[in-house]
Amino acid sequence: MNSPTRSATAARLPVHVFGAGAIGRMHIERIVRHPDVVLAGIADPSEAGRDLAAELGVAWSADPMELLATQRAEAVIIATPNRTHTDLGIACIDLKLPVLVEKPIADTVEEGMRLCEAAEAAGVPLMVGHQRRHNPILRRAKELVAAGVLGRPATANVMATWMKPDSYFDMQWRRQPGGGPVLINMIHDIDLLRFLLGEVASVQAQCSNAVRGFAVEDTATALLRFRNGALATLVVSDAAAAPWNWDLAAGEAEHYARQDVDSIFLTGTDASLALPRLQVFKYLGKRGWHEPLSMERTPLHRQDPYVEQLRHLRAVAEGREQPVCSGRDGLRTLQATLAVHQAAADGSIIHLEGG
Ligand SMILES: NC(=O)c1ccc[n+]([C@@H]2O[C@H](COP(=O)([O-])OP(=O)(O)OC[C@H]3O[C@@H](n4cnc5c(N)ncnc54)[C@H](O)[C@@H]3O)[C@@H](O)[C@H]2O)c1
Repeated sequence: MNSPTRSATAARLPVHVFGAGAIGRMHIERIVRHPDVVLAGIADPSEAGRDLAAELGVAWSADPMELLATQRAEAVIIATPNRTHTDLGIACIDLKLPVLVEKPIADTVEEGMRLCEAAEAAGVPLMVGHQRRHNPILRRAKELVAAGVLGRPATANVMATWMKPDSYFDMQWRRQPGGGPVLINMIHDIDLLRFLLGEVASVQAQCSNAVRGFAVEDTATALLRFRNGALATLVVSDAAAAPWNWDLAAGEAEHYARQDVDSIFLTGTDASLALPRLQVFKYLGKRGWHEPLSMERTPLHRQDPYVEQLRHLRAVAEGREQPVCSGRDGLRTLQATLAVHQAAADGSIIHLEGG
């Protein structure tokens, strides 16, 4: 592990960001205001990336390898297109630099595996940017599930329905297979369910492009069976005038117009839980479908998960914490998400390894 003796009060951890596009900029905006990390440099071949580095007065290179060779950092955030994640990640790992790679960990399971194995062989921490795991709402939900408040988990229903504006599809890759809501959005819901309920055993699915008619899906449903026997249905559509999705309901980042709704519903033999409003429904007395259920709502403590993820990045780089979302977590989430496409394409049930 890198610099395990660095103390919690030492100078801020210098971090490089590879890729200063949509998500790279979100990281950069937070790094420059963060008490735990400092921006060391930006690698991005675009003019916009070079201009941003100049504006912030940090090192810049079009080529991540050149930036690594010329400017010191102690961790790297990789926010480049999916197909580049593995090679860039391994280049950092070879230099013993802890890596936070954006989701999906890679564009195929084989490439994701290659990255995980490189990190494990080198003993270098690898984290995947499923930032919801750093949201205090979801952490509280995990505590409730782990403490057995729900009893034995029975079902989960996850809604991810909203409207992407027409301009979103100006970029050609967003109209092609792989650029749609399964790999961009449903992957976060699958990771969230894995965080709460454990490993996925099998996947069935349907995809539809009926609304927009692009090669990529605009709508999909998946049915997941978990190893503990719980069943989940997931619905995603980026062509629906609807508020029911985690980003809007949880106010995941300030650019989302928050909606006071729930979008995730978990049930168990003792209680049920609606998220993100953290509402627990249970029987106080006699149990049965003719009896009243009480509802208790845990006060919300909102916190930007991307900011918390940066604090965690430093703690992991300094050997004080284990990754909340490890490379292997990112890999299993990718595996289950790719199974959605496969199951939809051939109408089969996909049984996941170890399931
Ligand atoms: N965690 C999340 O919620 C979330 C949200 C959006 C995107 N992402 C992920 O982040 C990654 C980037 O997505 P985006 O929407 O920001 O894409 P984007 O197209 O907006 O930005 C990508 C940037 O990477 C740069 N780039 C391309 N190749 C590079 C290379 N070899 N080295 C350095 N820079 C390079 C491009 O010039 C561009 O500025 C993807 O893996 C995506 O899935 C995650």
